[in-house]
Amino acid sequence: MNIREWTMRSSTGAIPGVFLSFNVVVFVVYLLAFSSTEHAELPPAGHLKPLGWHRVAEPGVDTVDVVPEPGVFFEDYVRKGRPLLMKGAARNMKTFRLWNDEYLRTQFGDLEVEVEEGKKENRSRGLWTMRLDEFVEEYQQGDIYMVASVPTEMADEVELLRCLLCGGFTERLQDAVIWFSSGNTKSVLHFDAVDNINCVMDGQKEFFLVDKNEKNSVFMDHPDGSFSSVDVDHVDMYEYPGLGQVPWYNVTMQPGDCFFIPYRWFHQVRSAAGRSLAINIWFVHLLRFNYNDCMAKGQLPEFEPLGQFQLTSDLEQLRGEIANFIDELEESVLKIQDLPKLADEFEIMDQESLKMFTILDRDKNNQVDLDEVYSCNMKDIETQAPGLVRMYNSGENSENDHDEL
Ligand SMILES: *[C@@H]1O[C@H](CO)[C@@H](O)[C@H](O)[C@H]1NC(C)=O
Ligand SMILES: *[C@@H]1O[C@H](CO)[C@@H](O)[C@H](O)[C@H]1NC(C)=O
Repeated sequence: MNIREWTMRSSTGAIPGVFLSFNVVVFVVYLLAFSSTEHAELPPAGHLKPLGWHRVAEPGVDTVDVVPEPGVFFEDYVRKGRPLLMKGAARNMKTFRLWNDEYLRTQFGDLEVEVEEGKKENRSRGLWTMRLDEFVEEYQQGDIYMVASVPTEMADEVELLRCLLCGGFTERLQDAVIWFSSGNTKSVLHFDAVDNINCVMDGQKEFFLVDKNEKNSVFMDHPDGSFSSVDVDHVDMYEYPGLGQVPWYNVTMQPGDCFFIPYRWFHQVRSAAGRSLAINIWFVHLLRFNYNDCMAKGQLPEFEPLGQFQLTSDLEQLRGEIANFIDELEESVLKIQDLPKLADEFEIMDQESLKMFTILDRDKNNQVDLDEVYSCNMKDIETQAPGLVRMYNSGENSENDHDEL
């Protein structure tokens, strides 16, 4: 009942007086109730709307039609932490040209792949494995999402882009994952502690992307700190006020596009309705580029198969994270007084962080620089600070098993 309806009805005289006064009372009560709550003003922009409705997106991210050489990719994007959309970069990949349902079913049907319950990501729901041919049979009907590390048998058909083929990237590959569904998937808002290139083979994806420097606005309220519990379809701006102002980028990907998401940038990913297939590669954030390696390799092909490379060990990933941590300290040096920060960052006890510091500090000058991190024998850290390595591995695994694109 609203005021217009009430006026109209009363002017016709067709409504009994008692009913009219009931309407007036309800209207007055409604006004009083409304003006007495703290939400009396208009709710904040984007309240209870999907992520990205709070303000217009920033102008787009850098976009290229030609995949950069590794040296340029490193200097301009990886080192600076700048996202890059590479249009059409995957169009000649085998996975783009060949991987339709029929091909996957006949070539790889008997492989066991990991599948998640629910196309809207919920990290407390189930994961299981099923045969790929069964998945192909069911995915158009079911609320299921294949999120599977590339099985060895498929690794020769998955290809790495030229921008990763020299300089040190291929020694730091952390994981490659296939994302396959009937579309309308939604990830949680999260970040990855590694660099990421995601290529869409079929369907469209849309990224809500936020600079890593906005960490105070996009605070990750899940206890392990890796993602936000915000409902990505109905953002409660009273609960997450930082999201009400935060600048963001709207990146849309078409089939054949690849997107570089720098490490620690926040993102939430949606796929459009319809068959959706993407493959992403995570690689440990590189701080130093090996130009000699690129000289030695000379002219690079457009792609090389993932199967030619080994994934890096957990210990190497840990080295990468320690290096990133030190790189962000003043003068890129870890001093004795930084130890509490170190313990905090890696969730270790002070004793263990001291042990680690002692191992890393080879020249015993009470500070650790990046050279020392890169020349350290990580096995020594594993034997002398086992709690650290254990902590790191358990955190990493629980995070990576679920990261969604
Ligand atoms: C992002 O951009 C795409 C393509 O221009 C558009 O369809 C979509 O509505 C935009 N998303 C938001 C949340 O503004
Ligand atoms: C996630 O799943 C759990 C268990 O099924 C459920 O209790 C919870 O409400 C779900 N969360 C969201 C945001 O849907």
